[in-house]
Formats: sequence, C-alpha cells, structure tokens
Amino acid sequence: MFDDNLPDEVYWGWMEEVCALVYERTCPGGAIYFMQREKNTEQALRCLRKTGWTLQNLIIWLKRTSAVPNGHRFGKRYQIIAFATKGDSPRLFNRLRIDPPLRPEHRQPRQNGVFLTDCWEDIRELTSGYFAGDEALRSPTGERLHLQQSPVALLLRIILSSTNVGDWVLDPFAGTGTTGIVAEQLQRNSLLIEISPANVEIIRGRLAEQRAADSVQRWRHYYRFTPDLETVWPTEAAQRWGTAQQMVLFEPKDTYGRD
Ligand SMILES: C[S@@+](CC[C@H](N)C(=O)[O-])C[C@H]1O[C@@H](n2cnc3c(N)ncnc32)[C@H](O)[C@@H]1O
Repeated sequence: MFDDNLPDEVYWGWMEEVCALVYERTCPGGAIYFMQREKNTEQALRCLRKTGWTLQNLIIWLKRTSAVPNGHRFGKRYQIIAFATKGDSPRLFNRLRIDPPLRPEHRQPRQNGVFLTDCWEDIRELTSGYFAGDEALRSPTGERLHLQQSPVALLLRIILSSTNVGDWVLDPFAGTGTTGIVAEQLQRNSLLIEISPANVEIIRGRLAEQRAADSVQRWRHYYRFTPDLETVWPTEAAQRWGTAQQMVLFEPKDTYGRD
C-alpha cells in the first residue's frame, strides 16, 4: 500500500507510473479526473503532462465545510481535480446544467438553470466529524470506516460528464467504492482496484446493502435542465441498481510504492 510518508520524488514517480498505465489503457479521447490536495497542484499537472494527458480543466472543488486553518498564510478551502483527456478533444463531454439556489446578488430567477463551470462549490465533502451525515459509512459503534470517502454527488458529476451508458470507468484507488456505487446506478461498467482487504469488504457490503444514502436519485432534480438528460442518465437506471452492470473488484497482490 502506498505510504503517505514516502519522499515526494518516490510518490510522484509512482504516480507517474499509474497515470502512464491508465493512459495506455484508456480509449482515444477518454478522460481522467485526478484529484489532489491544493498543495500538490504543480506536481499533479506535471505528472499528467509527462504521461501524455491533455489538460481540459483544473477544477476547483470548493469545500463547503470549514477551511484548514493556517498561521502564516490563508486557510485552505479547496481541493483540485485535474480533468484531462487522451488527445486534444474529449471522446464525449456531456454539458450538465444545474439549478443552484439563487444568490442574493441575482435578482431574476433563472428559467432553466446554468451550465456547470470549473468551480464546484455545491458539493459538500464528508467531513471527519459528526456532520458527515448519513452518507458516511460507519461501524456499529459509530466510527467512520474510511475518512477519505468521497461524496456520491462528486462521482455522479464526474461520471455523468465524461461517460455514457455502457462505458467503463476505472478507479485504481477505490477506497469505499463510491465510483462503483455511482457507476452501477448510472448503468456504467466499473473496474475498482483497492489494496486493503478491509476496504474491499466495505465495498462488498456497501454494494450489497444498496443504502438509501447512496442513491443518486436525490440529485436528479438538480440536473433536470441538462440537455438530453434522459440519454445521459436514463430514468429506468434507478430501478436497475445492483443488477445491470458489470463490476470487477480487484485486490492487487503486488503493491506499488513499497520496497
Ligand atoms: C483517497 S482513498 C479513496 C477514497 C474513495 N474515493 C472513496 O470514495 O472511498 C485511496 C484508497 O487507495 C487505496 N490504495 C492505496 N495504495 C493503493 C495501491 N497501490 N493499489 C490500490 N489501492 C491503493 C487506499 O487503501 C485507499 O483506500
């Protein structure tokens, strides 16, 4: 398993290997969404460029929760998601329209929402504390099972933007399997790789349970102005959760980043 205390050069050398492998296996025009902490922006962009990817957007995921305080510079409130493609133009890009609440400075209500931009400020992260809400996976005694569990809403946006029904999605660092949970509900196939057997068990349990908190349906209304929504996100997908798609769950025996 990757060790967070490895020197930067080792980590980024390993990440380059991963990004190069993913590039090799991606179809022409296929997309990668590479999420990193803001402090790693420079390395993340370099890593993608060196491994052949073409940057399309540097997405700012502005956390709706509190900032990480910092004594000698501004507190940190966002994470980056570099969206890049294999080749200059994406094989497909579904332009999503959302219907965010009207800001006080906007006096006229919108008739049909707005297209998404590269600033995502409407997705709440699952904090480490109590406020993580129902979506956070917990043990019977209430402890979080994985502190880096991504919100369903984040993967929903990524998968809807860059895939159509029947496409394949790869998550080489699957964690609690949020990518697979969302892909399955959207009728996309997924390949999840997760090194920790404990996490793989969490993924299996999560898939089997089909929790209401994992349903993507509560977001559908928010995207209702998206052109061709029915093609990108068929209504019937909701009824097929857990049955329709192929999912491959893989626990690698060989590890990267360790001697
Ligand atoms: C940031 S978490 C992913 C969280 C995930 N997005 C979710 O929603 O739960 C990264 C995961 O990568 C896994 N991991 C670390 N090194 C790995 C490796 N070499 N191969 C596969 N998985 C690895 C860790 O065990 C961890 O669960």
